Formats: sequence, structure tokens, C-alpha cells
Amino acid sequence: MNSPKVNKQYGRDNLPDQILTALGNAGKDLDNLTRADLGTFDEFHIGGLAETRILISKIPDFQQGSKVLDMGSGLGGPARTLADEFDCEVVGIDLTQEYVKAATVLTERVGLSDKITFKQGDVLDMPFEDNSFDVVWTQFVGMNIEAKQTFYEQAYRVVRDGGYLAFHEVMAGENDGLIFPVFWADVAEVNHLRSPETVQEILADVGFEQIEWVDLTQASVEFFEKMLTARKQQTEKPPLGFNIFVGEETPLKAQNIIKNLDAGHIKVVQGIYKANK
Ligand SMILES: C[S@@+](CC[C@H](N)C(=O)[O-])C[C@H]1O[C@@H](n2cnc3c(N)ncnc32)[C@H](O)[C@@H]1O
Repeated sequence: MNSPKVNKQYGRDNLPDQILTALGNAGKDLDNLTRADLGTFDEFHIGGLAETRILISKIPDFQQGSKVLDMGSGLGGPARTLADEFDCEVVGIDLTQEYVKAATVLTERVGLSDKITFKQGDVLDMPFEDNSFDVVWTQFVGMNIEAKQTFYEQAYRVVRDGGYLAFHEVMAGENDGLIFPVFWADVAEVNHLRSPETVQEILADVGFEQIEWVDLTQASVEFFEKMLTARKQQTEKPPLGFNIFVGEETPLKAQNIIKNLDAGHIKVVQGIYKANK
């Protein structure tokens, strides 16, 4: 059970209040928040909203109104995108209690609570019925999961026959020696990267059919370079970025991602897999 370690990595006291305070300090109208107000930080993965839209576009014949499970839903940004832009009914599950609270508050504030629910729980032991989702979705979560086989078995169990797994993850590069801290791990004990080849073998073993596999490693360097440049140009107002919940180490972690990408320690991958049951 890695719950205390993951909570320590991501948990922050009173996270919903901290986020609302940061939004207020940035001049946002807290009584009329919109998804756009949250857009610079609520998708906690490389590429943000743009990569979420790209991942959706890769799912064959993706239907408006699909029932989607977001495994490791974080602050709920991807779930809100799926619900708002694609009319999906979304369930998010996440281990970190403060993230679940923040995701719920932000979703209420932008008026999407009728389409999304968030639940605290472990993706390795999910309380959902077999075959109950059209799409299982996960972005930047597998890096914290040691039991990869169980992770993908759970995804396979809850998705319906003919449904899809859509993921966007950091994986191990060809060279060892990850430089810490990074966004998903301050220390080695919560870092569980595996090579793309190993993940592909596990997915095939679980029963998934590969539909699409895209290496986004180079695009990821460009994302973080832009983020760091924007931060340098920011002078007065505190930036509304990952710093709200990651803290002062945000620029260091962003720089370390670039170093890790450049040195071949990590790769970034998107994949679409089909469940043929
Ligand atoms: C980098 S964040 C990504 C959040 C979200 N998917 C996004 O892209 O905005 C990683 C998330 O995975 C969650 N997580 C890690 N291990 C988990 C587990 N075993 N079960 C559920 N959630 C987990 C963390 O709590 C955290 O919210």
C-alpha cells in the first residue's frame, strides 16, 4: 500500500482554500469562476489542456456523452474538460484526499457538478463494477504506481468490451539516473517508472490491443521551456501555476524535467488501447 507515501508527495493542508486564495489574489471573481480561470494549473501534466484535447481526439469514434473513469484525477482539470467540452459523465478517483476535496470544490464553482463526481480511493483497488465505463482515462499517474500489472488489470476490468484505455504518462528513458526532485517524486521511493517496452508487454498481457502509441518526449521539453520563460517574465503578481500546490520548488522541478528529458532519463508517451473482451 503506497497511500501514505503518495499523500506525502501530493497532499497539502487546506488545498481548496489555498487555491481559492491564490485565485482571489490573482484578481479572479470567486463567485463566478470559469474553467478558463483555472486553466493555467488544473491539468497537472505536461502539455496541460492542449494535450488532453489531443488525447481525446485519438480515441476512435469518441462519443459525446461517454461514461469516463479518470484514474488519478488530481485537481479534476481533465475531468472538467471531458465533461464540459465532450458532454461526458465522468468519475474521478484519486488517493490524495486534499486533491479530491479541491477537485470537488473547483467543479462546483464552475458549475459542472451534475456531470462529475470525485471519489477518494486507490486505483489498485477500485470500487467500481466490471465493464462499467466506455473509456478509462489516466494522465501522469503510472509514475507513482509500482504494481503496474494490477493498475492496468483494474483499467481492463472496469472498461466495457470494445471500450478504450487512454493514457498519457512519463516512462523510463534509455539511461538510468533520474534527477530528483520531479513533480511526481521528491525521493526515489515514490518513483516507479518502467520502460515503454515493459509497459507495452504488460498491456498486451492484460488483454489490451494497441491502437496508438505516440512519443511526446521532444514536445515535452518545449512545454517546460515555455513555462520557465513565462515565469521569468512574470514580475509582480504571483503566477497562477503549479506553484499553488507544488510550492517554491516548482521551477527546480520544471528544470529537472528538462534535464531528465535531455539526458534520456525519461520519455513521455500517449497511448490508446482497446479492450476486446
Ligand atoms: C501528477 S498528478 C496528475 C493528476 C491528473 N491526472 C492530471 O493530469 O491533472 C498524479 C495524481 O495521481 C494520484 N495517484 C498516485 N497514485 C495513486 C493511486 N494509487 N491511486 C489513486 N490516485 C493516485 C495522485 O494523488 C495525484 O493526484
